[in-house]
Amino acid sequence: LTGAITLDPGYKNSGSCESKITFLDGEEGILRYRGYAIEELAEKASFLEVSYLLIFGELPTRAQLNQFEDDIRKYTLVNEEMKNIIDGFPKTAHPMGVLASLTSALTAFNPKSVDPHDDKEMYIAVCKTMAKFIVIATWTYRKSMGFPLNYYDNTKGYVENFMRLMFELPTGPYQSDKVIVEALDKLFILHADHEQNCSTSTVRIVGSSHAGLFASISAGVSALWGPLHGGANQAVLEMLEQINNDGGDVAKYVLKAKDKDDPFRLMGFGHRVYKNFDPRAKIIKKAADEVLAKLGVDDPLLDIAKQLEQVALEDDYFKSRNLYPNVDFYSGIIYRALGIPTEMFTVMFAIGRLPGWIAQWKEMRINKEPIGRPRQVYTGYALRPFVPVDQR
Ligand code: SDX
Repeated sequence: LTGAITLDPGYKNSGSCESKITFLDGEEGILRYRGYAIEELAEKASFLEVSYLLIFGELPTRAQLNQFEDDIRKYTLVNEEMKNIIDGFPKTAHPMGVLASLTSALTAFNPKSVDPHDDKEMYIAVCKTMAKFIVIATWTYRKSMGFPLNYYDNTKGYVENFMRLMFELPTGPYQSDKVIVEALDKLFILHADHEQNCSTSTVRIVGSSHAGLFASISAGVSALWGPLHGGANQAVLEMLEQINNDGGDVAKYVLKAKDKDDPFRLMGFGHRVYKNFDPRAKIIKKAADEVLAKLGVDDPLLDIAKQLEQVALEDDYFKSRNLYPNVDFYSGIIYRALGIPTEMFTVMFAIGRLPGWIAQWKEMRINKEPIGRPRQVYTGYALRPFVPVDQR
């Protein structure tokens, strides 16, 4: 195994873990799923193919892939009573908060927790999760728009269904667009897994107490929501719009981002691990040009994003801190061109990341990892005597 390292036994409850799923090299800007380069997978595979690879460890044969898609279709109906839950939310509720709640609520309708050591049971749980998550994810948007909730169409593909579930109205069928489906497929692949990031670590640590798969995924959705993590793709668009509305003065915002007294940061820049270009950002930047050209969309925010990247990458502050565009910097430009509302951008990230969360949860349980229990360095008081309240 190239690049394989073994951690000392003490790592077991330190928050680190061994994994065979994703390899990334932050210095070289390398990302591989089960040994396959992200650049190849993004170009040659489908999202369901990559989901199968991440979860079961090998690229599926044609028969396995067809069977996987058919088996997912068996579970695309979400219990009608789930609608009572979504009806309890105000239309203004952020889709990520609704998605986290609905994902956890799936446990109520699938109470038997899955035994990850039972291959058949685990396979069904995978198909059920992939099937129901994409439906409830789109319901968060439908609810915010006051639209009726759509059902998955088992005659259409997984990613094609996403656009239908989002945008099909009773007034007429949604006209699928190959360009859009291909762009989404690629974006979902690029978000599918990323080693032990914040939300994946959350899924693993919640699952390490043997909490169920839906409960663990729900926790991952909540962690992803944060603007320092998956919520950054929404924050990038809001930042680009702010710069655009402020006359497109890119240099002014690069200065603001460097000002220690200013809380403003360049959203979509920097990374905990990549101290080089995020390989996904390179692919998404190229895809943004291609998709907008194919759709005939001329978005000034793409030009502002490119100018921002150019100015920042020439700036010593960013160069000295190895701050490069990350996966979130250009993705929102494409989502926007596809007609996806900004509030749904992080939900898009969650749909892409779902197979990675499932794969990591499965690996952690099959490896019989102990309950997560990160240690701490205690820096508080030494022992001291109690003081009665009237003497304080
Ligand atoms: C994702 O971990 C993963 O793999 C995550 C992810 C995945 O696929 O799961 O890749 C997805 O979460 C990508 C990151 C999305 N977040 C953002 O784009 C938010 C903006 N970026 C930052 O908040 C920040 O870069 C982080 C949170 C991503 C990383 O933070 P670090 O590594 O802890 O960096 P830091 O906060 O220690 O900053 C180091 C220095 C600081 O300056 P100094 O104190 O040295 O003077 O760099 C500065 C920071 O102020 N800095 C930035 C900056 N990011 C870091 N300055 C301006 N703008 C930024 N974006």
